[in-house]
Amino acid sequence: MGVVHFVFLVSTLSSVFTVNVTVLEPRYTDGPEFGLVIIPGAEIKGYTYRPLAEKLQVQAPFKLWVGLVGGFFSNTPNPLELPGGIESALGAMRKAGMTAASKIYLAAHSLGGTFLSAYANTNHKNISGILLYGSYLTRSYNMSAYPVPVLTLSGDMDGLNRITRIQETFQNLQDLYAKDQAVIYRSPVITLPGVNHGQFASGVMPKMVLQNDIPAEVSNDYAYEMIANASKYFMIATAKTPSDLVVVAENQLKQYFQDNQQRMQPIYAVRSMDSLGQTSPWSVVGQQIISRLIDTQKLHVYNQLVNEISLQVDEPNIVAKDGELSITTYTEITYPFNPLDVSFYQQSPSQIQAKMSSSEAVQRYLPNGNFSEPLSCKEVNQAAIYHALSLAAAIPRTRFMKSGRNITITFDDIVSNEEVWLAEPLRITQTHHGLQVTSIGYHPATESNGFYHCKLLSPFRVLEYIYVDSLKPHPSI
Ligand SMILES: *[C@@H]1O[C@H](CO)[C@@H](O)[C@H](O)[C@H]1NC(C)=O
Ligand SMILES: *[C@@H]1O[C@H](CO)[C@@H](O)[C@H](O)[C@H]1NC(C)=O
Ligand SMILES: *[C@@H]1O[C@H](CO)[C@@H](O)[C@H](O)[C@H]1NC(C)=O
Ligand SMILES: *[C@@H]1O[C@H](CO)[C@@H](O)[C@H](O)[C@H]1NC(C)=O
Ligand SMILES: *[C@@H]1O[C@H](CO)[C@@H](O)[C@H](O)[C@H]1NC(C)=O
Ligand SMILES: *[C@@H]1O[C@H](CO)[C@@H](O)[C@H](O)[C@H]1NC(C)=O
Repeated sequence: MGVVHFVFLVSTLSSVFTVNVTVLEPRYTDGPEFGLVIIPGAEIKGYTYRPLAEKLQVQAPFKLWVGLVGGFFSNTPNPLELPGGIESALGAMRKAGMTAASKIYLAAHSLGGTFLSAYANTNHKNISGILLYGSYLTRSYNMSAYPVPVLTLSGDMDGLNRITRIQETFQNLQDLYAKDQAVIYRSPVITLPGVNHGQFASGVMPKMVLQNDIPAEVSNDYAYEMIANASKYFMIATAKTPSDLVVVAENQLKQYFQDNQQRMQPIYAVRSMDSLGQTSPWSVVGQQIISRLIDTQKLHVYNQLVNEISLQVDEPNIVAKDGELSITTYTEITYPFNPLDVSFYQQSPSQIQAKMSSSEAVQRYLPNGNFSEPLSCKEVNQAAIYHALSLAAAIPRTRFMKSGRNITITFDDIVSNEEVWLAEPLRITQTHHGLQVTSIGYHPATESNGFYHCKLLSPFRVLEYIYVDSLKPHPSI
């Protein structure tokens, strides 16, 4: 297999960078011709993708040229150098013998994928598709309107490109699938078991990856083969060549889709407990627990999601009719600040602020009801852990039980006025021992309305901890 090195100068107004390209000549000489340019992730050198590229050249039953792009400023792809890097790679591949008939695909890892999706959104004339490795189309793009086919490919043990973010992209795909089943060939979202963030490249990963990636369960060599297989099926299905393999490729993509339906379902189910439409189902569970009613048949709980301003004034209320109670509760869900949609950050809420009615208030309306011993916000948070654990898929649950850091819920901090309760966030800290959670409760003893307000732990936060954060080498920031 021939290797050709090229060095190019890309000039801009104010500076001169050197982007260099390594061309890997095709391993096979027959079959249709393809060209693949690979853009690295942040602080990862271009040539470290060579083992993956060579695996792809072995696995793909066609004539595949690969251009590895390296030499970005600080070894980090950026919007300024990316267009020149891609053009240089394609130029070098043509110079080495790639013909104009070649189907052109662009792949990029991690941060490179963020810039590649912006590039290909406007420069898609001769591009047959893009491959996002450990990366994804951010919310600023509409999957069905994106101009070229996109493969979203990552491992389920990726500590930087969280599976909890990829689930959202997969949900977009599922929604589109309901209207057009062919979308799973054009925009497949594939998750590889046991693979982490670094396993697209080779060699020693940069500090950022080393400190945050989950230890992989498969060897690099096995990971490269899985990545190569998924990439090749995407390329065959979207280029529609070699024609005798298109149906095989489509069937494989269907299999990946079905695997991901199973894998993502628990994440979707737990995420939907936090909020579904205009209500928070988990807050309804919270009110049922806080009511201490053993049989909740006569209790109808409604919940309204509100913003932080409304939460200051909205208070729960109880309506009794024919021996049954209806309680309306109010909830605000706080998410971490992440306007750029970065998958490195926690996707789940940092707290669920629920304004509920106290058991004393419920007891006044149902004096003959059967009530349990006193319960607090702590018990609701304990229930969130059981809920997430019971819905987690078998593989991540086993990983967590075997090597995850634990979760501890401590006694509530009961504050004496509502302003303090509103201002104090749920205390949630990660240490080497595990996740420690302390709720802030407001439970006035002498209040005619009988409130019980809790800063609750989101079940999705627990699930994300089980799947991702508890397995990282260091507690997340
Ligand atoms: C780029 O240049 C470096 C240093 O000269 C070299 O080691 C590497 O193989 C070249 N190619 C790529 C794709 O990084
Ligand atoms: C697309 O390919 C054609 C034929 O090879 C070429 O003439 C044209 O410049 C290319 N367009 C872009 C935007 O690269
Ligand atoms: C996405 O694009 C499709 C057209 O491909 C359009 O029908 C749909 O409304 C768009 N969705 C959003 C959220 O913009
Ligand atoms: C890759 O695909 C080939 C068939 O094309 C299969 O034999 C092999 O087991 C696959 N490798 C992995 C790691 O899934
Ligand atoms: C109240 O609940 C407890 C626990 O489930 C049960 O043992 C008891 O029989 C119940 N009492 C009434 C009056 O229903
Ligand atoms: C679990 O967490 C507690 C408190 O956070 C800690 O004291 C304990 O050592 C942890 N257990 C393990 C096995 O890490």
